[in-house]
Amino acid sequence: MADKQIVRFGIVGLGNMGSNHARTFMAGGIRDAALTAVCDLRGERLGWARENVPDVRTFERASDMFASGAIDAVILAAPHYSHPPLAIEAFAHKIHVMCEKPAGVYGKQVAEMNRAAAAARKDGIVFGLMFNQRTNSLFKKMREMAQGGELGRLRRNNWLAANWYRSQLYYDSGEWRATWAGEGGGVLLNQSPHNLDLWQWICGMPKRIMAFCHEGKWHDIEVEDDVTAYAEYEDGSTGVFVASTGDPAGDNRFAITGDRGKLVFEDGGLTFCKLRVPEPEFNRTNTQPFKSPPFDRIAVETDGSDPEHAGVLQAFTDCILGRGELVARGEEGANGVMISNAMHLSSWLGRPVELPVDEDLYYDMLQKKVRAARGKTGVRKRVREAVVEDMRDSFNV
Ligand SMILES: NC(=O)c1ccc[n+]([C@@H]2O[C@H](COP(=O)([O-])OP(=O)(O)OC[C@H]3O[C@@H](n4cnc5c(N)ncnc54)[C@H](O)[C@@H]3O)[C@@H](O)[C@H]2O)c1
Repeated sequence: MADKQIVRFGIVGLGNMGSNHARTFMAGGIRDAALTAVCDLRGERLGWARENVPDVRTFERASDMFASGAIDAVILAAPHYSHPPLAIEAFAHKIHVMCEKPAGVYGKQVAEMNRAAAAARKDGIVFGLMFNQRTNSLFKKMREMAQGGELGRLRRNNWLAANWYRSQLYYDSGEWRATWAGEGGGVLLNQSPHNLDLWQWICGMPKRIMAFCHEGKWHDIEVEDDVTAYAEYEDGSTGVFVASTGDPAGDNRFAITGDRGKLVFEDGGLTFCKLRVPEPEFNRTNTQPFKSPPFDRIAVETDGSDPEHAGVLQAFTDCILGRGELVARGEEGANGVMISNAMHLSSWLGRPVELPVDEDLYYDMLQKKVRAARGKTGVRKRVREAVVEDMRDSFNV
């Protein structure tokens, strides 16, 4: 490290998300960290960097930036397929890695990345995942209540994560988007990785999934834009997960029911329907045939904090400097990828699939989708020069 107290960052991929991270550094948003290099295959983005993030070295190739000695840590903000190979290369240069979500597209490549991370950890290399929604105090509270026993034994969860509306213009705004070859999936790979991570972080990993992934239902795209999945857990509880980029005014409602009450995240708040007595006890002692367990409706207070991406980057920096914990360890990214792989696989096979997913089967079937895909030929006339926007309104909690 050049200066003991400053972590020097590079960014690979200076598109929508990478530029946003660059702006965070330029605004002085991360303590004891500085952006010292950026990398993008597109000259236009490097031009943007020279104008907007002066005094930062620019590279066309990630390999050159990794070998330059200009950075201690890197943020991987190129499209998903490239995350594992880039991370593995960075680890080989003893560079700390903050990987954007999703960790990768398919389990096999994520497992390979995690093996490289385990080896790098022996040299003190830190690996984090950009699960920025974990910093939201509402989700932190849900996890605390679900796992701390306040809801009792979990029975059911329902997450209607349909507030990810995207227009055709969005899908046409980059060649890689919404293609099997370029992105490896649709809403499950692009928007829902946040939800899938939180889902498993709060409710645990399912053991069986049945899913219906509708491809190109609301848009002229080859990948899924509408998903309904049913999940079963080891403890006998069940879950339903819905994601869509086609619902206008779509809902974001996450409810967890246990035998002590029901916790609901909706409209930016948390409500707890707290049973006056746990349901098993009510059921044992109740004397009225049509009576339901009485409960009190409580608005759950949190500190309201949500430092988002900057919070994840600050924790990552602090962890590198030996004074804190990561928001999400890089290896944990494998869980959400496994769930999305299971949903795809179940839908393609037309039957429930067990977790852990058969990674070879998933990989083979994904390759078949890639080979059979029409690419963007149907919409090529609409695909524009890749668009980069200020995307802060799209983070969607
Ligand atoms: N955490 C979040 O909230 C969040 C939000 C949006 C996007 N993302 C993630 O960030 C990643 C990028 O998404 P985006 O919307 O910014 O895409 P984008 O298309 O806007 O930008 C990607 C950039 O990467 C560059 N690139 C591609 N391959 C490269 C390589 N090998 N080396 C160097 N540059 C390369 C492209 O030229 C492009 O400029 C995705 O994995 C996405 O899931 C995360």
